[in-house]
Amino acid sequence: DHKIAILISGRGSNMMALVEQARGYSVVLVASDKPDAPGLAWARERGLATWALSPRGIGKAAYEAQLDAALRAAGVTVIALAGYMRLVSDDFVARWRDRIVNIHPSLLPLYKGLDTHRRAIEAGDAEGGCSVHIVTEELDGGRLLGQARVPILPGDDADTLAARVLIAEHALYPRTLAEFVMSPADHIHAFATTLPEVETQVDGD
Ligand code: GAR
Repeated sequence: DHKIAILISGRGSNMMALVEQARGYSVVLVASDKPDAPGLAWARERGLATWALSPRGIGKAAYEAQLDAALRAAGVTVIALAGYMRLVSDDFVARWRDRIVNIHPSLLPLYKGLDTHRRAIEAGDAEGGCSVHIVTEELDGGRLLGQARVPILPGDDADTLAARVLIAEHALYPRTLAEFVMSPADHIHAFATTLPEVETQVDGD
């Protein structure tokens, strides 16, 4: 089994889904750039190993060096970003090439970056959704591993759409991570192009 570290900055609901639906991987570390991230308390209560350090004061390079050391000490093979709201440096990406995945709350390549739900609504899109992708030097630009779509309903605002997408995230991320880690490493590229799109329909109320 692959040993996963989950990186969070906040409430960690995707982390909880990855822990509770683990298949083909085990979660060996929950790490955060925010020592008071609510998700860390949940992880500790579950008996999971946690690591937290604020980059404030020490700088990004020192922070990432310590994070890297913690990941290697824990025997981590794949890193899952889950609401980790910090840009990963090019150097860190290079050290973990093709071994960092992320979930992003839009139908990539649409709406990279922040404020995805508001932008989708303002564009008049009929659907929003979420994407799981490989992390590269390009923000939200790495190879797509899976996507889930949800309808945008009349009267939606960014919060109601975010809540609907989040339900889809919790189904998509564990499933996509399991498929990713169970694919042979030397077939990763073939795998990415053949993985069928995940269609998760969530009814509005
Ligand atoms: C999720 O919606 C995730 O897709 C998004 O933040 C939320 C974290 O929620 N991630 C990003 O916007 C990354 N740029 P969670 O902490 O409950 O998983």
